[in-house]
Amino acid sequence: MQQFNTIIGSDIQAAKTFLENGEVVGIPTETVYGLAGNALDADVALKIFSVKNRPHFDPLIVHTHGIDEIEKYVSEIPAKARLLMQRFMPGALTLLLKKKSLVPDIITSGLDTVAIRVPNHPLTLKLLKELPFPLAAPSANPFGYISPTTAQHVFDQLQGKIPYVLDGGATAVGVESTIVGFDDDEPVVYRLGGLAVEEIEKVIGKVKVNVNAASNPKTPGMLKSHYAPAIDLIFDEPATLAKLRTEHKTAGVICFDKAIDGLTGSKQVLLSPVGDLNEAAKNLFAAMRSLDNSGVDIIYAVRFPDTGLGRAINDRLKRASVK
Ligand code: TXA
Ligand code: MG
Repeated sequence: MQQFNTIIGSDIQAAKTFLENGEVVGIPTETVYGLAGNALDADVALKIFSVKNRPHFDPLIVHTHGIDEIEKYVSEIPAKARLLMQRFMPGALTLLLKKKSLVPDIITSGLDTVAIRVPNHPLTLKLLKELPFPLAAPSANPFGYISPTTAQHVFDQLQGKIPYVLDGGATAVGVESTIVGFDDDEPVVYRLGGLAVEEIEKVIGKVKVNVNAASNPKTPGMLKSHYAPAIDLIFDEPATLAKLRTEHKTAGVICFDKAIDGLTGSKQVLLSPVGDLNEAAKNLFAAMRSLDNSGVDIIYAVRFPDTGLGRAINDRLKRASVK
């Protein structure tokens, strides 16, 4: 693989030039950082898979700058999809829609739907408007590891492999987009994410949630083990975690708004001292990363309330706990 002297900067023109030359670059979105390249060029898609070390059966999300743009790449938009687009784009929503043939098969891993979204980040929206093509972008982490929420996270793991990381600050949402597909025009949530199911239901009524990979060949990337730190992670109720050991000096603990009594000596991180699930989601991946690199030999993580973004947080922690 080609080696680069990776630069972090906020120069849209620099990012644009690399992308126009068929390179892949790190880009900010409101959810997590992406590893972006020309979505209409199959060779660029291959580069993305190889930098990320990602299996080709796991398709990529196409990013564009507006609803009108989406029409260029999809052949059908169910009525409920249109309502969601009008309400939540730009935003943390990815829709699975029937693709037109100009979207290369490698982008969708041969599926007849393409995952498409309009990211809500000023730098990336500006970049997308200036580019003559949409951007395919998986999260900018090596396959299976925790997604990056700062430009530095991207640099730490991909330096040398890409020429540029566009720095748009820490991401505002902190977990990946919510993925919604359509089964006979009926909406199905295939990945819990930064747009809460409750918000979706306010617009289109009750939706099915099917985030279980085994029963869901439609979203091949939703593996049981994912988003995982290098060290072990145990995900459970605070009371159960408190009983796990008598000596916790080597444990790091991810908590919601209060520390767990009885885990003396452990490193406890509160994701939101004021008890805000959105703030907790924003801080989740950085906390997992920093504990992973802090010298502890195990991470304990509590179960969050199963509402709003708490559902996405629990989903990520559960997958992180599977080896
Ligand atoms: O928030 C996000 O969505 C971030 C930012 C960078 O936009 N991107 C992201 O991409 O999370 P990635 O590649 O890490 O996750 C994409 C997920 C995978 O689980 C993949 O299987 C699924 O989307 N996916 C992509 N295209 C699909 C398709 N045509 N049908 C079903 N699932 C698809
Ligand atoms: Mg990912």
